[in-house]
Amino acid sequence: MELIDGKKVAEGIRAGIARQVAHSIDNEGTAPHLAAILVGDDPASHTYVRNKEKACQEAGIISSVYKYPASLSERELLTVIDFINNDPEIHGLIVQLPLPAHIPSEKIIRAIHPCKDVDGFHPMNLGNMVQGLPAYLPATPYGILQLLEYYKIETEGKHCVVLGRSNIVGTPVSILLSRKSYPGNCTVTLCHSKTRDLDAICRQADILIAAIGQPHFVKADMVREGAVVIDVGMHRVPDFSKGSGHHLTGDVDFGEVSKKAGYITPVPGGVGPMTIVALLCNTLKAFKKEIYP
Ligand code: GUN
Repeated sequence: MELIDGKKVAEGIRAGIARQVAHSIDNEGTAPHLAAILVGDDPASHTYVRNKEKACQEAGIISSVYKYPASLSERELLTVIDFINNDPEIHGLIVQLPLPAHIPSEKIIRAIHPCKDVDGFHPMNLGNMVQGLPAYLPATPYGILQLLEYYKIETEGKHCVVLGRSNIVGTPVSILLSRKSYPGNCTVTLCHSKTRDLDAICRQADILIAAIGQPHFVKADMVREGAVVIDVGMHRVPDFSKGSGHHLTGDVDFGEVSKKAGYITPVPGGVGPMTIVALLCNTLKAFKKEIYP
């Protein structure tokens, strides 16, 4: 079994971004700028945004966080987005999800200018991605592709089973891995809550991507010997031996599955750091006008 070290791969990519940013500061006196909007007090969202801010700082990317109480109205949020859309000094904008229940996230995502939509959630970016045209790829799927590439994992003709059909992970990663490219050319099965014989389908996977949102859902008897197992889950488990009062665990029962897998991502230190660095990659692309010249 080979451990897929997302932390190490992400650090390498981030160092490359930092070099490009430093070069741009030296030569043009400008740096990429990512803005994040955070509404409400969901602790996991605050942690994600803090981690993104820290990663930006380490790469020399300017980051601004716009924090609002959960009582913010839809209209007020749209006004802030409009303001950032029209600020030429801000290159990327993300609105941290989930939003409070009274704000419809689809409407908010559509309000972000597609050129600044570094999360790749806007229908224009998703549509371009589906057609294989230049697009910001959603950060977690993009990070997973970069891991497969780094470890030179063969994907052509492989059966990839994806657990979970979210707009953020399951659906886009299944589309990306079925595209005619590397990583890609997989035969993809997208499983969800209505899938029958789930365990039997998982056992057919050469590549198993768990993004189902249930801690330790994937057990060893669902995994073929030698399979590549990518764990997107991120769950806080109360743990009073830790200063934070919790530890993180994934959708995969790492203890038992790691004995059977050919490659496996740990939690933490697998997909999580890659998601953040993929967002930095997209921010750099936005700054360089690489996707929409
Ligand atoms: N919530 C969970 N994952 C994400 C993400 O990748 N981007 C945003 N904006 N919100 C999220």
